[in-house]
Parts: sequence; C-alpha cells; structure tokens
Amino acid sequence: VSPTQPYNDNHWNKRIRQYLDSDWSKRPTPFAKLVDSRIKPHSTILELGAGAGQDSLWFASQGHKLIMTDGSDAFFETIQERASEKEILLEARMVDVTQTLPFNAGTFDLVYAQLVLHYFDDDLTKKIIGEIERILKSGGWFAGMVNTVHDPEYDLTKEQANGLLNVNGLIKRFFTLESFRSFLSEFEIELYDAKGSTPKDDDKDTHDLIRFIARKV
Ligand SMILES: C[S@@+](CC[C@H](N)C(=O)[O-])C[C@H]1O[C@@H](n2cnc3c(N)ncnc32)[C@H](O)[C@@H]1O
Repeated sequence: VSPTQPYNDNHWNKRIRQYLDSDWSKRPTPFAKLVDSRIKPHSTILELGAGAGQDSLWFASQGHKLIMTDGSDAFFETIQERASEKEILLEARMVDVTQTLPFNAGTFDLVYAQLVLHYFDDDLTKKIIGEIERILKSGGWFAGMVNTVHDPEYDLTKEQANGLLNVNGLIKRFFTLESFRSFLSEFEIELYDAKGSTPKDDDKDTHDLIRFIARKV
C-alpha cells in the first residue's frame, strides 16, 4: 500500500509551530484526561502524530512511560524543553504512521492517536490500524479521535471516490460514525461516539468529532 500523500512537512511544521504558540498546547486535551482515567498506572504508551506534544507530556506527568512520535521532529527540542521544566521524562521519535511502525509486537499498553488517522484512504487506514494492533499488548488500549462530516471544512462536492478531499492543499478525510467503525472491527469497543472536541479547533467551531477507546482482544 503506498501513501495517499507523502508526509507534508511544509504544512505541518507551520501548524505545529502555531500549536506551540497557543495557550491550549500547555494543557492536556479533555480526551487525554478521559483516556488516562481508563488505563492502569505506569502504562507503556505510544502517541502517534503528537503535534505540540501536550498529551504526551500529560501522560508522562501521570507516571506513564511515553514514546511521543510525529512525522516531523522539528519541534522535539521545544517539547523536550517543556518536559524538563516540569521534570518530565519522555522519549521522542520521528515516526511516519504510513510506514511499518518501528516497534515489536505486543509492546504497548496504549496507542494514542488524536486527529492523526484521517488523512488516508481505506487500504492505508486499514494497514495503519493493523500495525497499531500488532504493537499493542493483548488487552492493550487503542484510543483516538477522527474528523467527521460535521466538520465546517467538509465539502461533499469536493470528496473524491476514495473519500479524500483537498482542503487548502492538505489531503484530509471526514468519517461518519458508521464509516469509521469498520476499521475497529478487530477491537473490543469501550467507547465510541461523536462527542469529541479539541481546543485547537474551538475557534473554527469544530465539534462532534468521533472519539474511540477500544481494546485489543
Ligand atoms: C491535527 S494534528 C494533531 C496533533 C495532536 N495529536 C493533537 O491532537 O493536538 C495532526 C498531527 O499528525 C501528524 N501527522 C500527519 N501525518 C502524519 C504521518 N503520516 N505520520 C506521522 N504523523 C503525521 C502531524 O505532524 C500533526 O502533528
């Protein structure tokens, strides 16, 4: 399976810089706190597409062992500075989710992917989620959020047959509760709804995001 688009460094380096400059990136998101309330102490966690790293920092501050990853390593130093100010330890690694994930099978108690899995067509999305399942321990958690068609950026007339849309130069995807659910068919679902929100998009009135917390059987 080839990537539907190569990692867009130019776009993401600008975006992550903006995230780091905003106030919300200094606090965990509501979803991270919700997920933390479900997992056991001292979990081994992988965050994919961590962006400004606010949630990895939070999980690590709660005593979990964190590997924070993103397709760009441009801001790892800044995020590590934030970590050391709080005496938090985390490992940062550049990982492109479209590639084979560079971890052994059964490594993690939680793989956390907030707003990271809605850039790919069906085949690639399936491949990525298969990789996530592989690296989870049995009984391990997979938690994340994805965009929905209720997003103000969604435009049905621009949607291609493979479900992808070009939104100002970035290829994106918008799911319905029904269309995303099939990707979780190998997991036991603990929470699945469209009540997610994100502080980073509050000003764009993005709401009703799909939230999921699922378990590897
Ligand atoms: C919308 S931001 C979400 C950031 C963070 N998870 C949050 O919720 O605040 C999407 C993130 O996914 C990352 N990303 C996009 N495509 C990726 C890929 N192919 N591999 C790894 N990370 C990717 C971007 O660099 C960016 O940090």
